[in-house]
Amino acid sequence: MLGKAHKSLGAKYLGHGLVLENISFSWKAGNKALENCTFSIPRPGLWMIVGGNGSGKSTLFRLISGIIEPQSGQMFCSLKPALMLQNPDHHLLLPSCGSDLLLSLPLGLNAIERNKKINFALEQVGLKDFADRPIHTLSGGQKQRLALAGALLSQSNLLLLDEPTALLDPLSQKSILKIVRKISRESNKKPITALWITHRLEELTYCDGAAIMRQGQLGQWSSGEKIISKLN
Ligand SMILES: Nc1ncnc2c1ncn2[C@@H]1O[C@H](COP(=O)(O)OP(=O)(O)O)[C@@H](O)[C@H]1O
Ligand SMILES: [Mg+2]
Repeated sequence: MLGKAHKSLGAKYLGHGLVLENISFSWKAGNKALENCTFSIPRPGLWMIVGGNGSGKSTLFRLISGIIEPQSGQMFCSLKPALMLQNPDHHLLLPSCGSDLLLSLPLGLNAIERNKKINFALEQVGLKDFADRPIHTLSGGQKQRLALAGALLSQSNLLLLDEPTALLDPLSQKSILKIVRKISRESNKKPITALWITHRLEELTYCDGAAIMRQGQLGQWSSGEKIISKLN
């Protein structure tokens, strides 16, 4: 896919896992949600998007995750996306943490491999030894981290986080911010790109780059601090 992107879009996108060029999308009701939206993600890391209500952020994530298709423009994505929403209850299906995570695993693993992968993913999100815990006993922040473990087990390398901390208390908010930042910066063989939508400006201090969404277009990547001072 990326090879194709290089040929038609040029060398400036070399190594970029996600490229959008002049993407437009209107909902059936006539609401124009994305209009000539052009941006790319130059490298893995934690990238944040801020913008007013209705500026098109959630529509953009639906498009990147393949739920909707662009009506015009081009998108190239060599990464495997996983969409995470505000409310983790919309993701979690089975009664225990371990059984829920089983659903995210690729097929063809034996029981030992499955347990090993599940325990590793739980550890990555700060839920070590939670495999047998019933999901209804988890806090909102723990549920969100479990959903994140599921995304990691499904071998996604593009996490699309749509206001993941909107329903969380400040402590859980910080914990998930730190976990996603750590995962996205780990320089192992499988780098992760996280795109994070927020309306809480203080979260921008955690990112590797941030941009403002306005009327269906994403602006230039800049440092989180610069975006904060721009918006203040
Ligand atoms: N499922 C939908 N059906 C119709 N219109 C929608 C739908 N989702 C979003 N929109 C419209 O698209 C525009 C952008 O919305 P959205 O992408 O949700 O913005 P944001 O996430 O930035 O608040 C708005 O005008 C909104 O009303
Ligand atoms: Mg939204």
